[in-house]
Amino acid sequence: MRDPHQDFFDRLAQEWDLSFTAEDLERLSHLVDSLGVSEGMDIIDLGCGTGVLFDLLRRRVGPEGSVTGVDYSIEMVRVAHRNFPFDNVNVVEADATNLPFKDSAFDMAVSFSAFPHFSDKQRVLQEVNRVLKSGAMFYIIHLQSSKDLASLHKRIGGPVMHDRLPSTEELHEMFSASNFTDINIEDHPGLFLASAVNVK
Ligand SMILES: C[S@@+](CC[C@H](N)C(=O)[O-])C[C@H]1O[C@@H](n2cnc3c(N)ncnc32)[C@H](O)[C@@H]1O
Repeated sequence: MRDPHQDFFDRLAQEWDLSFTAEDLERLSHLVDSLGVSEGMDIIDLGCGTGVLFDLLRRRVGPEGSVTGVDYSIEMVRVAHRNFPFDNVNVVEADATNLPFKDSAFDMAVSFSAFPHFSDKQRVLQEVNRVLKSGAMFYIIHLQSSKDLASLHKRIGGPVMHDRLPSTEELHEMFSASNFTDINIEDHPGLFLASAVNVK
């Protein structure tokens, strides 16, 4: 059955890039600098939308690495394809709960502004555990606190009205249940950053 989120995000796709200010992009650039991305890495971006992280990531992984964006909104995927026709960028229309990739295919996973929208978050973490190599990092990134994000979604309404990040305790448990370790969660005004190391 089709998730109402897909139509919601399909409708936003053409104008999506206008939602980022130069300041957002600057902050994202500094954040990505701190993630330990290096040349040759294969990185998966879950709920990639139009690919706001792609340029930051693809320049850091270089021609020997790759960035694979996954999104289940066909319109977001279309815009991402149009925006990033580069050899080291792949965009795939897929559900994050059922990733069409082989085991241990990636060196890092990121999800920017998307995790609260995943209907089955535990299943997504299981899939990330499967497609990441052992020792690889998964980062959940937002440019606002979980509290501010919840208020924003409430204001927007529609299918995202109740979309929330799990509490720090819940997210710890969810990561652990999917075999992630070294879990760190920062949650304060202007930033939510969760990181964990994948263990096979
Ligand atoms: C708020 S947007 C963020 C897009 C992009 N990361 C950005 O920050 O510009 C959330 C994205 O997650 C995608 N999404 C939500 N649930 C998904 C799922 N189960 N599988 C794949 N993509 C999903 C939506 O289609 C949407 O493009």
